[in-house]
Amino acid sequence: MTSANQPGTLTDAQGVLDARELPSPEFSALWEAVLVPRDLKDRLISQAILNFTLRGRLDRATVPLHGVILLVGPPGTGKTSLARGLASRTAESVESERPFRYIEVEPHALASAALGRSQQAVRQLLGSVIAEQAAAAPLIVVLDEVETLAADRTKLSMETNPIDVHRATDAVLAQLDHLAARYPNLLFIATSNFPDAIDEAFLSRADSIEVVPLPDDDGCRRILADTVLALAALYPEVAGILDDPVFDEACRQCRGMDGRRIRKVLVSACTQDKHVAIAPGKLTAAHLLAAVRALRHSAG
Ligand SMILES: Nc1ncnc2c1ncn2[C@@H]1O[C@H](COP(=O)(O)OP(=O)(O)O)[C@@H](O)[C@H]1O
Ligand SMILES: [Mg+2]
Repeated sequence: MTSANQPGTLTDAQGVLDARELPSPEFSALWEAVLVPRDLKDRLISQAILNFTLRGRLDRATVPLHGVILLVGPPGTGKTSLARGLASRTAESVESERPFRYIEVEPHALASAALGRSQQAVRQLLGSVIAEQAAAAPLIVVLDEVETLAADRTKLSMETNPIDVHRATDAVLAQLDHLAARYPNLLFIATSNFPDAIDEAFLSRADSIEVVPLPDDDGCRRILADTVLALAALYPEVAGILDDPVFDEACRQCRGMDGRRIRKVLVSACTQDKHVAIAPGKLTAAHLLAAVRALRHSAG
């Protein structure tokens, strides 16, 4: 038995950030924590399920399904969380004799070292580690910040080592195609903050490309309220904040901010005043508003 078949050693393989069995309660909680329009989540889950119900039974030449879902959008909008959550939710939804497995690739680890060596690392990861896992059981692979791995060859051609860049990205694309063709029970979920930096050949292989947007007005309110309710679980008196018109204004001022930053407002608000830090139950909507303004200011 090779080391790749032993879960304990899988994460030691170069470029593997995480390996686990699905579903994962931790990942399912991430899916719930990211507040995006319901139809976006519905489309994602349907596309992921379809991969496992249909892909292996269709002729690729007639209905091309490559087994790649791509999430793009500004940083901090929940793409990584959604990718992990989607993996877990899909495993919950699809019946399988053998439990789903999960691998998360760390593209920076693969791409950062000398590219000549990374080409070999890519081949090892995709060709051996992932192939062995995909042969054994349904497998979902998250390729986070995939632009690092599938770098646009034309944009990188000015780099010092253009030939190695070509080789490395070629190796990724060839392996992805090979894996998808060979293992229908394999799904790649890729994320990117910079879709313009992704190779056109990779984009064309994505079965669906979903844009994860900045939260709209309702989204801003739901995220900020979610953080207040978390504090209210410890200090029930802060729940009243949600009915304060100043809270409405704080939500309005969140417009244009990403979800990660909005989640930071509450902690930042608790540090506006030492008395609140000592007794967080004293938090008011005015503290939240001041914190939003300060965060906006620091964002430039
Ligand atoms: N729309 C959202 N709703 C709720 N929380 C969000 C949202 N977007 C981002 N977050 C929070 O921000 C943090 C970072 O999200 P992450 O998935 O790393 O974003 P990305 O990968 O797009 O940069 C997470 O804690 C996540 O819960
Ligand atoms: Mg991310």
